[in-house]
This record gives sequence, C-alpha cells and structure tokens, in this order.
Amino acid sequence: MPLACLTDFQAYARERLSKSTWDFIEEGADDNFTRDDNIAAFKRIRLRPRYLKNVAKVDTRTTIQGEEIAAPICIAPTGFHCLLWPDGEMSTARAAQAAGVCYITSMFATCALEDIAATAPRGLKWFQLYAHPDRQLNKQLLQRVESLGFRALVITVDVPKLGNRRQDIRNQLDLKMSLLLKDLHFPKERTSMPYFQMSPIDSSISWNDLSWLQSITRLPIILKGILTKEDAELAVKHNVNGIIVSNHGGRQLDDVPIDALAEVVAAVKGKMEVYLDGGIRTGNDVLKALALGAKCVFLGRPILWGLAYKGEHGVEEVLNIIKNEFHTSMTLTGCLSVAEINRDLIQFSRL
Ligand SMILES: Cc1cc2nc3c(=O)[nH]c(=O)nc-3n(C[C@H](O)[C@H](O)[C@H](O)COP(=O)(O)O)c2cc1C
Repeated sequence: MPLACLTDFQAYARERLSKSTWDFIEEGADDNFTRDDNIAAFKRIRLRPRYLKNVAKVDTRTTIQGEEIAAPICIAPTGFHCLLWPDGEMSTARAAQAAGVCYITSMFATCALEDIAATAPRGLKWFQLYAHPDRQLNKQLLQRVESLGFRALVITVDVPKLGNRRQDIRNQLDLKMSLLLKDLHFPKERTSMPYFQMSPIDSSISWNDLSWLQSITRLPIILKGILTKEDAELAVKHNVNGIIVSNHGGRQLDDVPIDALAEVVAAVKGKMEVYLDGGIRTGNDVLKALALGAKCVFLGRPILWGLAYKGEHGVEEVLNIIKNEFHTSMTLTGCLSVAEINRDLIQFSRL
C-alpha cells in the first residue's frame, strides 16, 4: 500500500527499526510534553480560506538567505543518519537536491562532509555547529565547511547540556563512536563512550563569543533554538542573519512553547529572516507557520522516517508529499504565491 502522509512513514519506521533506535529518534525530554505539544499547537490554529481568486497557477517557490528553494519546506539538522540507512547523510543530501530544498547538515553527521558535498553538488546546504570547547577545532571545521560550499552556518544554542531523555537511559543507548563524529577526530581512547556521556559541546559559549564566531567565518550565521523576544532582540543587536525558532523537537528543555514564533517575529521587526522547526507534519502546518511570520520551516523526524523507509527515495517521497500538501493548502486558501500568505489566513481555536 502506498504511503500517503508523513505519519504513514512514522508507522513504517516504528515497525522496522530496533526499539533503541526508534526511541532515540522519537523521544523528547522529560515528560515529552513539549514534543507532543509541538503537534497539538498546530491543531489549535484554524484556517480562513478565501475563494474565487483564480488559483489555476500556484507557485510554492521562495528564497532563504537570498537563495531560491522549491518550497518553504527544508531539512532540519539531525545526527546519525547512518543508523537509518547505509549511506545516511549522503542519501539525505541527494534527496534534498532532487526536491530543490535546503539541507542543514548536522555536525553529528555520520558521513564525511566531503562525501555529503560531493554527492549533491548542486543542492543548497547549510552546516549546523555545536560550538566545541576547542576553538581551533571550530575554526578548522568552519574553514572546511566554507570550502565545501555550505552556504550558511547554523549555530544551535539550546544544548549547553543534553536534555534528559529517559528512554535512552533505560535502553542504555550506546551509539558507538565508529558511527560518530568523523569530522571531529576525537582521540581514540574515547571511541567507545556513549554519546550522552561525551561532552563535545561548549557550555560556556555566550553572546560575547558571537563576534569571535563571526570573525572566523564569512557565512551568514543563523541561531537555532531562540524562543523569547529578549534573545531575539539580542540576536538583532549582534547582527545575526537569521533565527530558527525551535525547541529541538522537544528533546531539550521540556515545557517550552512552539508558539514562540509570533513573539520572535514581532521582536526582530523584519531585520532578519525567522524560520521554524518542530511538529511540522502537513502542508497545512507549513501554511500556518508562514502565516505566523516564518519564512520557511524545517522537518526533523519525518526525514528520518523517510530514510528508514527507503533511503534517498524515502526522503524524496516525504518531501514530495508535504510539498504537494502545501500546494493544496495554498490553492484551497486562495494563495497564488508564498508572499500572499499572511496572518489573515488563520485564527486561534477556542478549544
Ligand atoms: C534524532 C534527532 C537528532 C537530532 N540531532 C540534532 C542535531 O544534531 N543538531 C541540531 O541542531 N538539532 C538536532 N535535532 C533537532 C532537529 O534539528 C529539530 O529541531 C527537530 O527535530 C524538529 O522537530 P520535529 O522532529 O518535530 O520535526 C535532532 C532531532 C532528532 C529527532
């Protein structure tokens, strides 16, 4: 039976994957409140369609950081794709290229960055960094990233410490270092440590370090994980180029909202692009996020479900389904172009 929507891929992945891999992908932190609320939040929003607008030609294209994408639906950074498919991130990169969308490659990629870049040379790729305590290592990594043609640097700010993921503890998850961090060259003696005991992320990083990060790269810098107007204003003050409103798919701090999008959009006053990830599962979700001011959304887990289904072709199917759904959402609400999507298209349900 063909798979018809993104949650069909979720059901397939659940059947196929080992319990510990499934739990690793799926779980959130603590009580999973935020993970589940990310999905529920979109259901609290209703659409206000406009009709009789001649929607014979609907165009889903847009731009991010000045570069065209086929639809405002791209791929969020997630680590360890080789857990799900043999050539992991290389499959993901080819699928993104075929779909004409941006792929944010995680620093925790399990394929070498050179191979990811070479397998999809025409695809738009950004690189996601967790600042490493060794500053020299960050610098070297960013030089490689630039020379390989990645077009923006995404700095994830919501992991000064790993969230409390209970299932990984219960499953005694041990992602062997043979799978891990080919780009970081950790000393050999650390190679068998479970990833949640490793500490490659610099928890001392602060706003004061942004100018240093800006000084070691020419790439635009996007901060991923901003959830408040206070931090959004600081991002503007520090001349950041974009924000991804994200609660890490509910995997870090629990009990935080995805509704922060509207707050952040208002705070930046159009001075930078704002994007969203977390809980996007349908074309209507994409439309709602754009109506609230996001320039583009990113998918996390659905890409991993697609990879688990059929590698590159599974990810392509996931992207094509949600792109088609978004085209339908635009057509049925009377939007001919992405620029026409605005706040008047939505209302908050009283439920
Ligand atoms: C298995 C998994 C691994 C992830 N790895 C990273 C990562 O390496 N870097 C990062 O910034 N975010 C990471 N994330 C968070 C995603 O980028 C994204 O914020 C989140 O998955 C979006 O929510 P969604 O899964 O509901 O689409 C990961 C998420 C998952 C599920």
